[in-house]
Amino acid sequence: MPSIDRKNTKPRDDHLVVRNVIKRFGDVVVLDDVSMVIRRGQTAVIIGGSGAGKTTLLRILIGLEKPSSGSVFIDGEDIVPLGGLAMNRVRKKFGMVFQYSALLDSLSVMDNVAFPLVEHTRMKKAAIRERVLSTLESLGLQTSDAQKSPAELSGGMRKRVALARALMLEPEILIYDEPTSGLDPITSRMVDDLIEETRERYGITSVVISHDMASTFRIAHQAFLLIRGKVAASGTPEELADINRNKVSHDFIVTSGVAFERISRPPLPGD
Ligand SMILES: Nc1ncnc2c1ncn2[C@@H]1O[C@H](COP(=O)(O)OP(=O)(O)O)[C@@H](O)[C@H]1O
Ligand SMILES: [Mg+2]
Repeated sequence: MPSIDRKNTKPRDDHLVVRNVIKRFGDVVVLDDVSMVIRRGQTAVIIGGSGAGKTTLLRILIGLEKPSSGSVFIDGEDIVPLGGLAMNRVRKKFGMVFQYSALLDSLSVMDNVAFPLVEHTRMKKAAIRERVLSTLESLGLQTSDAQKSPAELSGGMRKRVALARALMLEPEILIYDEPTSGLDPITSRMVDDLIEETRERYGITSVVISHDMASTFRIAHQAFLLIRGKVAASGTPEELADINRNKVSHDFIVTSGVAFERISRPPLPGD
């Protein structure tokens, strides 16, 4: 598997900064003073149980929802005050890999992946075809797969197709919503490798929403634990698991049942 080198990261600039974000729906506070810094080119994993506020935070990050208060900086620009047109420009920086891949089974793999280019660019049909095929190929799919329906593919292959689609508009930031949910452990591992390889190859910043702790340990440079709308802990997965540092996140990880001591990790400089 690709190695995550958590210590040997050069200082990088802040790509995505969430500052004091509060989100209320009526009287219910769903995000309660959330702050986080996500560095360019790294993988941040946002973990938390169901109802913790992960999806709401994701929608705020990509500008689909406005916070009740607080700021969200992307490349240093606060996107919270932006209106429709400016928001469309910002949204192009993001690629989304949806939970369960969200592919249309009535369309071919080719048409699913080509969709963003058809919708948002004036590229010619032949150029679109070429970009789709080369991206599919780089992700381990074959030209013959392009004419299939996504329904004919395995869960892991569907995830590759969803990733290809998310890469079409050359995003700076890729957001994965629960990328391993519904997948068996071996396919999950493969998806983790895919996330890491994509990050490395394209220099992309990755934000992964997850409740899969094994996956978090494999791919995260930084992890943020959300509990009832608050960031209960942040740091490397090893830091979150450290009982002397944060008992809440330690307990969360232990409860998840992941054997984090045994997750293979390559030796890091200084180990
Ligand atoms: N549009 C909405 N209106 C009212 N409540 C909402 C809305 N969206 C989410 N919530 C509530 O916010 C809380 C967090 O939801 P969500 O962000 O989906 O959590 P998660 O993705 O971590 O499971 C839940 O209690 C949910 O019911
Ligand atoms: Mg959710």
